[in-house]
Amino acid sequence: MFAVYAAESHADDPLAALRTGDRPAPDVPEGWARVRLRAASLNHHDLWSLRGVGLPADRLPMILGCDGAGVDDEGREVVVHAVVSDPDWTGDETFDPRRSLLSERYQGTFADEVVVPRRNLVPKPAELSFEEAACLPTAWLTAYRMLFTRSGLAPGSTVLVQGAGGGVATALVALGSAAGYRMWVTSRDEAKRAKAIELGADQAFESGARLPERVDGVMETVGKATWSHSVKSLRPGGVIVTCGATSGDAPPAELTRIFFLQLSVVGSTMGTRDELDRLMRLCAVTGVRPLIDHVLPLEDAREGFERMLHEDVFGKIVFTR
Ligand SMILES: NC(=O)c1ccc[n+]([C@@H]2O[C@H](COP(=O)([O-])OP(=O)(O)OC[C@H]3O[C@@H](n4cnc5c(N)ncnc54)[C@H](OP(=O)(O)O)[C@@H]3O)[C@@H](O)[C@H]2O)c1
Repeated sequence: MFAVYAAESHADDPLAALRTGDRPAPDVPEGWARVRLRAASLNHHDLWSLRGVGLPADRLPMILGCDGAGVDDEGREVVVHAVVSDPDWTGDETFDPRRSLLSERYQGTFADEVVVPRRNLVPKPAELSFEEAACLPTAWLTAYRMLFTRSGLAPGSTVLVQGAGGGVATALVALGSAAGYRMWVTSRDEAKRAKAIELGADQAFESGARLPERVDGVMETVGKATWSHSVKSLRPGGVIVTCGATSGDAPPAELTRIFFLQLSVVGSTMGTRDELDRLMRLCAVTGVRPLIDHVLPLEDAREGFERMLHEDVFGKIVFTR
C-alpha cells in the first residue's frame, strides 16, 4: 500500500529522513480493527519523529501520522484515537506508562490503511467531514484537555496562548472563544496575529510584549522562547499548562516568581478516548470546526512537511486519499 514513512533519523535535516512509497499492508491482530483512511493530519510530532525524537532507529521504517479518519471493515465512518494503551490498563490512558502514540510503536495513519485496537475507534459525527475529523485526535484533543480538563480555569477567565499559528494554538483559540473564555494570543508574525483575531481571539500581541493586565492562565507549546514571558504574564495564583517545547526545554524556570506568586505549572499530554468523543460532539453541537490551512493529496505529503518545518502554517495541514 502507499505510505509516507520515516526510513532513518536526521536530527538537523528531518526531511532527509522522509520517504513516500510502498509499504506492506498491515495484518489485523485479534481485537484490533482495520481502517481505510480517507484523511489524516500532520502534527509537529511527525517532524520530531523524523528527527529521531521518540522514534529510535530499531523501530524504523515507521509509517508516520497520529491522526486519521476513515471507514472500518464494517463500513462505519470512524476517527482513530491515537493513544494506544496497554491492554490491561484501566482508567485514563494518558497516565499509562506503557502507552504509545500511533507512529511510535505501531504504524501510523499516513497510508491507505491503519490497524488499531478496536477500542481506539470513535464514531465520526456526520456533521464533520473526514478532513475536519482527521484534525481532532492529536492537536485538538490536546488543546481540549489542556483547557477543559487540566487548567482548572472556568469560562470567563483570561487565557494567553503562546504562538498563534500552530495546530494546538489555533485549536485553543477556537475552543476557548466558543466556550466563553477571553483568549489572548502572541505571535512573532503580524499576519498570524490578524488571523488569530479572525479565529476568535480577543487580543493578539507581539511575542514577548507586555500585556495590558496579567492573565489567569497561559497555554504553552513553545517552551524555551516564551517560558519567561509566560511566567511573568500570570496573576498571583495563575496556572501555566504546558504540552510541548517546540523551541527547546531549558529556559530559566523562574522559580522565585513561581513560589512567591503561588503559580501552578501543569503538564498535559494528549487526551482520553472519552475526551475525543466529547470534543467531536462539542464540534458537532457548536459548529466549531478545525481551521485547515492546506489540504493535499497524501502523495504530496512532503510539501506539507516543508510548510510545517518553515512555520508557514496557520492551522492544520490535512492529507487525503
Ligand atoms: N504532549 C502532547 O501530547 C502534545 C500534543 C500535541 C502537540 N505537542 C507539542 O506541542 C508543540 C506544538 O505542536 P503543534 O502541532 O501545534 O506545532 P506547530 O503547528 O508546528 O506549532 C507552531 C507554533 O509554534 C510557535 N513557535 C515555534 N517556535 C517558536 C519560537 N521560537 N518562538 C515563538 N513561537 C514559536 C509558532 O508561533 P508563531 O505564531 O510565533 O509563528 C507557531 O504558531 C510541539 O512541540 C508538539 O510536539 C504535544
